[in-house]
Amino acid sequence: MSEQHLNKKRETIASAIHYEASYDLLKEKVILVTGAGAGIGKAAALSFARHGATVILLGRTTEKLEAVYDAIEKNGWPQAAIFPINLESAVMHHYEALAETIETEFGQLHGLLHNAALLGKLGPLSQYDPDLWQRIMQVNVNAEFMMTQVLLPVLRESSPASIMFTTSNVGHKGRAHWGAYAVSKFATEGLMQTLADEEDGISQVRINCINPGRVRTAMRAQAYPSEDPMTLKAPEDIMAAYLYLMGSDSLTINGHTLDAQ
Ligand SMILES: NC(=O)c1ccc[n+]([C@@H]2O[C@H](COP(=O)([O-])OP(=O)(O)OC[C@H]3O[C@@H](n4cnc5c(N)ncnc54)[C@H](OP(=O)(O)O)[C@@H]3O)[C@@H](O)[C@H]2O)c1
Repeated sequence: MSEQHLNKKRETIASAIHYEASYDLLKEKVILVTGAGAGIGKAAALSFARHGATVILLGRTTEKLEAVYDAIEKNGWPQAAIFPINLESAVMHHYEALAETIETEFGQLHGLLHNAALLGKLGPLSQYDPDLWQRIMQVNVNAEFMMTQVLLPVLRESSPASIMFTTSNVGHKGRAHWGAYAVSKFATEGLMQTLADEEDGISQVRINCINPGRVRTAMRAQAYPSEDPMTLKAPEDIMAAYLYLMGSDSLTINGHTLDAQ
């Protein structure tokens, strides 16, 4: 790729935070969102539905997923679906059942937003609880790998399709006391880059990471309990880059990490 072409691509990526999605950007698209019951995942699910997508709401707390389902219905957006699953205990056959359900119910999948994650406790690695380490790696990395692997065939068949992983600032540069969470985000970026390179040229599935930045959610409050949450953007304020990566204006973007702020 020429330097000029590369610069153009960098400019496009940087401007994703100001992206203005058309009202029907995701019309007739089927999109799965993990951790769709709260925080950024909830805002993304609602935003995708508002722009025409049929959203599959995946998460561990059924009541929270039902509340999002109801909000979608109340607004008259395409009817959503709910798939409750605990990513901490799910094993391969649960993911196979998810893939089968999607094949049977929808026959297609155009988007997958990996958003669910566990923060765990912050503290030095020298004292980090090995059981907590395993739990965080299971939810933040292993679940993403297994789910992506089983859903790749339907994503390829439905292409162009978009897989989005969620990273964090602590996933690019190690930071003291962020433990398994930081390491899991480095792994997520590695997963994204490896898969993006593998799919490049053989399918029309694009794979990228999104970095939400500081956002007013339960996870952020857990990490920074003394921070004034009103100084932070709300999840719905950062949806431009999510819509950009999910919709057809990002067809040539593959293997990148985009900042949502
Ligand atoms: N907020 C920030 O400032 C910030 C900054 C950088 C990156 N991020 C990333 O953005 C993403 C969303 O974070 P958030 O701030 O919106 O966090 P959040 O409010 O804590 O939401 C996390 C979501 O993940 C779900 N989840 C957690 N464990 C799960 C499990 N075992 N099985 C199924 N679902 C599970 C939660 O479900 P329940 O509600 O049912 O528990 C919830 O819906 C994460 O990947 C996070 O690392 C956030």
